[in-house]
Amino acid sequence: MADMNFTGPEPDLNELLAARPQLGLHAQDGLCLENVPLNAIADQYGTPVWVYGAQTMRARFAALRDAFAAETVPMHIHYAVKANDHLAILNLFHEQGAGADVVSIGEFLRATKAGIAARDIVYSGVGKSEAELETALSAGIGQINAESAEEVDMISAIAARLGVVANIALRMNPDVDAGTHAKITTGLAENKFGIAAADIPALYARASGLPGVRVAGIAMHIGSQILSTEPYRHAYGKGAEMVRALREAGQSVEVLDLGGGLGIGYQDGPGLSPAAFAAMVRQATNGLGVKLMMEPGRYLVGPAGLLLASVILRKQTGKRFLVLDAAMNDLMRPAMYEAWHGILPVDAAAFQGMATPADVVGPICESADQFAKDRILPDLRPGARVALLDAGAYGAVMSSAYNARPRAAAVLVDHGGFELITRRQEPEALWDGEIVPGA
Ligand code: LLP
Repeated sequence: MADMNFTGPEPDLNELLAARPQLGLHAQDGLCLENVPLNAIADQYGTPVWVYGAQTMRARFAALRDAFAAETVPMHIHYAVKANDHLAILNLFHEQGAGADVVSIGEFLRATKAGIAARDIVYSGVGKSEAELETALSAGIGQINAESAEEVDMISAIAARLGVVANIALRMNPDVDAGTHAKITTGLAENKFGIAAADIPALYARASGLPGVRVAGIAMHIGSQILSTEPYRHAYGKGAEMVRALREAGQSVEVLDLGGGLGIGYQDGPGLSPAAFAAMVRQATNGLGVKLMMEPGRYLVGPAGLLLASVILRKQTGKRFLVLDAAMNDLMRPAMYEAWHGILPVDAAAFQGMATPADVVGPICESADQFAKDRILPDLRPGARVALLDAGAYGAVMSSAYNARPRAAAVLVDHGGFELITRRQEPEALWDGEIVPGA
């Protein structure tokens, strides 16, 4: 189950730190992200606050791009907007040359707002509404990954009505176990995603005759937080087989979209290596002669972000608890997937102190509002700051205002400085848009 639900011996504070080159510990300033003291950010903008490292994101994009270059595999990278949809981050990846993978019209509009051209956007997802498809097609979306025969017909009808031709790929469900958490596996026959391989040839042929669509190729995505190349090798092998079978049947196949899913190291392991991934892709697609695309999210942004929080109080009720000012409404992953996130104190002295187990929780009235159970941590007094690590992906995007908790601020660290990129939500904004009948 990948290392999302990690139960092994836990890395200690120094091991967590050593495994993350983007973090550093300064004797005076404490924990830093890209050499910027987290204390300075919390002093200025308060906590909880999301902190993202721009250089880390650029470096990770470059590592992925370079891994494919080293294998001489031309790869078109479409950043999966769902992982972190902040305009500043979309803009950063746009500057690096990435396109975008979106799953709603909201994400599509965000991506275009950040400067990504509609033609560089791929639209995935199991249920796209007529209105969403209309907007995307009118704007000239680059590719739509269709997930059912019904959707192919819908796309063709809308495109024909608009007088455009939709470029589509058929998302094939390869029925491969990605070996990840059940809630984020997508390539099994029992999952709602994609089209069964057995149904692809007939649909491909039929779709090629429809007036509103041009069938460009095949798309796949088998899950997220995948730490081994094996499930990919298996799935992409099936994808390559499909491309060959379609061509033998006389179809033209130009595109193979490989999806995302590259896992990161939430403990002190390295995550899936881009080099190993790229080598596997080269082997699996050798001689296929298709345009290769991929849609990574977590790999690019996960390790670049953290959630900075403060200890509200310490409490002992049979167990030792540390209650933070951040909660499950901010970072939902531990409550939703029992996901493991590293927690580091910001104060340098705390790295030396005696450490004992503590449950790290938020103030929300649910027992699921727990960031860590029996985590070995030093004595952290009220006001002490902690960083919840690897929260750049599926962090802020999954947050809510549950318990009427305003959404946290966000800060971007770059070139040794930092800038506010999301203002902390004002409590009054919580009822913005609400209408009381008769009032
Ligand atoms: N492409 C498609 C079609 C997807 O459904 C996804 C993620 C991606 C690309 C990007 O996958 P990535 O490279 O980020 O693994 N909320 C969960 C993760 C859900 C992923 C859903 N699909 C979490 O917090 O772990």
